[in-house]
Amino acid sequence: MNVTFVKAAPAKSGAALVISNAVEGSAYSSDAVSAAAKASGFAAKAGDKFSTYAMSGAKAVNLTVMARGKADTFDYEMSAARWVKSLRGSGETALTIHLDGTDATPDDAARVALGARLAGYVFDRRKSDATKSKKPKFKTLKIACDNPNAAKKSYDNYYGPVGDGQILARDLVNEPPNVIYPKAYAAEIKKLTEFGLSVEILGEKKMKSLGMNALLGVGLGSPRESQMVIMRWNGGKKGAKPACLVGKGVTFDTGGISLKPGANMWDMKGDMGGSAAVVGAMCALAKRKAKANVVGIVGLVENMPDGLAQLPGDIVTSMSGQTIEVQNTDAEGRLVLADALHYAVTKYKPTAMIDLATLTGAIIVALGDEYAGLFSNNDDLASQIMAASDTSTDKTWRFPLAKAYDKMLDSPNADMKNIGGRAAGSITAAQFLQRFVGKDTPWAHLDIAGTGMKNGSKDPREPTFGTGFGVRLLNRWIADNHES
Ligand code: BES
Ligand code: MN
Ligand code: ZN
Repeated sequence: MNVTFVKAAPAKSGAALVISNAVEGSAYSSDAVSAAAKASGFAAKAGDKFSTYAMSGAKAVNLTVMARGKADTFDYEMSAARWVKSLRGSGETALTIHLDGTDATPDDAARVALGARLAGYVFDRRKSDATKSKKPKFKTLKIACDNPNAAKKSYDNYYGPVGDGQILARDLVNEPPNVIYPKAYAAEIKKLTEFGLSVEILGEKKMKSLGMNALLGVGLGSPRESQMVIMRWNGGKKGAKPACLVGKGVTFDTGGISLKPGANMWDMKGDMGGSAAVVGAMCALAKRKAKANVVGIVGLVENMPDGLAQLPGDIVTSMSGQTIEVQNTDAEGRLVLADALHYAVTKYKPTAMIDLATLTGAIIVALGDEYAGLFSNNDDLASQIMAASDTSTDKTWRFPLAKAYDKMLDSPNADMKNIGGRAAGSITAAQFLQRFVGKDTPWAHLDIAGTGMKNGSKDPREPTFGTGFGVRLLNRWIADNHES
């Protein structure tokens, strides 16, 4: 969708949304529009709306008028998104949203553009033309507002690139596992050098020499080579220590020898959602030329059963030197992250580190798909993330970490086992990760098993499946805490 910002000028065709209280005085006012307002009982309470056709010369405009009401809690972004979603099957190509004459700030106008793009998103690139006909055909979005220059600036410098990153993350999650497997995924990430990111790819040979046996063990059953990809964005002070973003990128999780049941197993193509959030966030940082040094690291592995696959009971030595008894090969994400986190901490000595992972089914039991689980060894960092959550729409809820949970990972045979038992499954997973972070790095873990992939979200901005959760949150966090 091509986005432009203009001063009030009524669209001559296409579909238009007018957000205001009055019908009279709107760019489309006419006797017919007033009559439609009356007939539909339009009372100008917040959210009241009606749709009709307005004549603009010889052409008709598919017009919706929505009242913003008196309260200052009107959500422009959400309202616009709801309208765009309602038009997905309409065949409309040109959309206009009128915010002129309201109290919408330039920032609100830019967010409306982002919300509209997110609501217009469907994953249809692998449909043939015959079935594409019922899909959105949106081409242009015009936003009429009182200060179009400032709105354009906010959009070009922030919300546009963030939207690009979030849509990239959605595409990566939605692509099937025969398209996005570790090497193919790494090649996709490599393309981001175009925007000024530096991208380094470690293959199995290199990871072996680094001692990353926890990550490599997960890939043993797959003929597809495991990869680790490091993205660097240096927009901050020269030589200043970076923030690190780390993502779980299991391109398909069968469970390995601890095989998952068959029902809905295809959902596990989305088990790289954490890595997609990191890739999308790095893409957005580069595109908006963020004034911060940030390193993104993703571990890309396919978890398969096979004659050579890792076995329950195997003991692996991680890059950190700590040994792990793999009691369940389906608790693989933490094994991938163990080496990725240790590598990040020792190589980059980050000022702060956040990892994202579709780590546990237990987080869905606790929070559904509304909030991501937040775990942290640092109260300041946790507060920063919760604040970024509030202003970015990616919601998080904090869980505890404690010695008693950590003890649940003790094993008689190795330094630890990779499962803690039925109780507190998301917390013991986070405790496991913490053992590879250590005490000196402010670190937070986001369990996005619920929020990263959804089926049937009520939020009009969210499509079926890959949501791109995390891209907005991470950019907000960097912008508010790491950019001067
Ligand atoms: N990728 C899954 C977690 C998951 C489940 C994500 C459902 C999204 C939806 C993860 O690798 C996994 O299998 N976790 C196990 C851990 C258990 C074996 C300790 C789980 O949650 O059952
Ligand atoms: Mn698993
Ligand atoms: Zn998994």
